Amino acid sequence: MNAQELTRIASMLVADDKGLLAMDERNGTCNKRFAKLGIPQTEEFRRSYRELIITTPALNESISGVILYDETIRQHKKDGTSFIKVLTANGIIPGIKVDIGAKTMAGHPGEKITEGLDGLRDRLAEYSQIGARFAKWRAVIAIGSDIPSRGCIEANASALARYASLCQEAGLVPIVEPEVLMDGEHTLERCSQVTEEVLRAVFNQFYVQRVILEGMILKPNMVLPGLSCLKQEGVNEVAIATVKCLLRAVPAAVPGIAFLSGGQPYEEASARLNAMNVRFKARLPWALAFSFARAIQQPALEIWCGEEANLVPAQKALYHRACCNRAARRGQYNASMEKK
Ligand code: 13P
Repeated sequence: MNAQELTRIASMLVADDKGLLAMDERNGTCNKRFAKLGIPQTEEFRRSYRELIITTPALNESISGVILYDETIRQHKKDGTSFIKVLTANGIIPGIKVDIGAKTMAGHPGEKITEGLDGLRDRLAEYSQIGARFAKWRAVIAIGSDIPSRGCIEANASALARYASLCQEAGLVPIVEPEVLMDGEHTLERCSQVTEEVLRAVFNQFYVQRVILEGMILKPNMVLPGLSCLKQEGVNEVAIATVKCLLRAVPAAVPGIAFLSGGQPYEEASARLNAMNVRFKARLPWALAFSFARAIQQPALEIWCGEEANLVPAQKALYHRACCNRAARRGQYNASMEKK
C-alpha cells in the first residue's frame, strides 16, 4: 500500500473546486427511478443513460470523479469504447460502489447494517485492475424515537473501518458514507447530535483499525431537520449547524468532505453547500465538496425520459447542475444561475 499515492488521489478528488458525481445506483434503485418516468427498466436503457452521463461535453470542468456500479464499470459506449476509457481520457477518475446494501439488522428493529465485507479483498483487486481508483461504502442510520442504537452505530462504524482499511491495502481511496437519513419528525438539533455521534464512532474505529485519514474522503449528510419536522431552518442555519458538527467530529487530516444530497431538492443542495463555503471556506481544515447523485442527475433524467431525441438537452441540464455545484464550492452560486 502506498500512502502517498492514496493521499494524492484523495486530494485530486477535491482539487480545483470540483466534486464527485454518484451514478452508482443499484439496478433496483435505477429501475425505480426509470419506472416513475415510464423508461423501460432494461440493462440497455440503464447503459444508454449512463453513456449519456459520461459523454456529457465538458463534464470534467466540474466533476473530478464518478462513482460507478458493478454493472456500469464493465459497460461500453455504443461504439465499443469502455466507460472506464471514456472517463480516464477526459481526466475523470473512476470509482466504484463496493457495499452490497444496507440490510435489516438482527435484534435492532427499524435499523440497518451494511453488508459486503465477505470477499471484499478479491473484489477490490478486480476493480482496481479494471481501472477504479476509489471505492464507496454507504452505511445508513435512521432517526426515530429510540433509534439510532449504540449497537447499530458501532456495527456500521466498524464495518466502515474494515472496508476503508481493505480499500487502502488495495490502493483505492475509500469514500466513507455514513448517511443519517432525512426521514422523520426530528429537529435539526437532533440530526446534529446523531451525526456527531456517528462521525465520532466512525473516526474512533478508523483510529483503532489504522485507516490513513489523509487517504480518504468523508461523504456525510448535511445537518438538516427531518422531512416531517414542523420547523424547517433556512439555508444559513443549516450551513452553520453542519459545519459546527463537522468541526467537532472530523479530524483535520481528512482532505475532503463531499456531501451526499439525500433527496434534498437540487437547488437547496447547491444553496446550502454554497452558504457553507461563503461563511467558512477560508478557515476550514478540509475542502467542502459534493458527491451528489440525485441533486446532479434528476433534471437530466426527467428531460431524457429514455428518448434519444432528448439527449442533448438532458446533457445540458446535467452540465448545468455540475457547474452550479462547482460554483457552490467557490461560494459563487446564486439563484439567478437557475433562471432558464
Ligand atoms: P444522493 O446524492 O442522491 O443522496 O446519492 C448519493 C449517494 O451516493 C447515495 O449513496
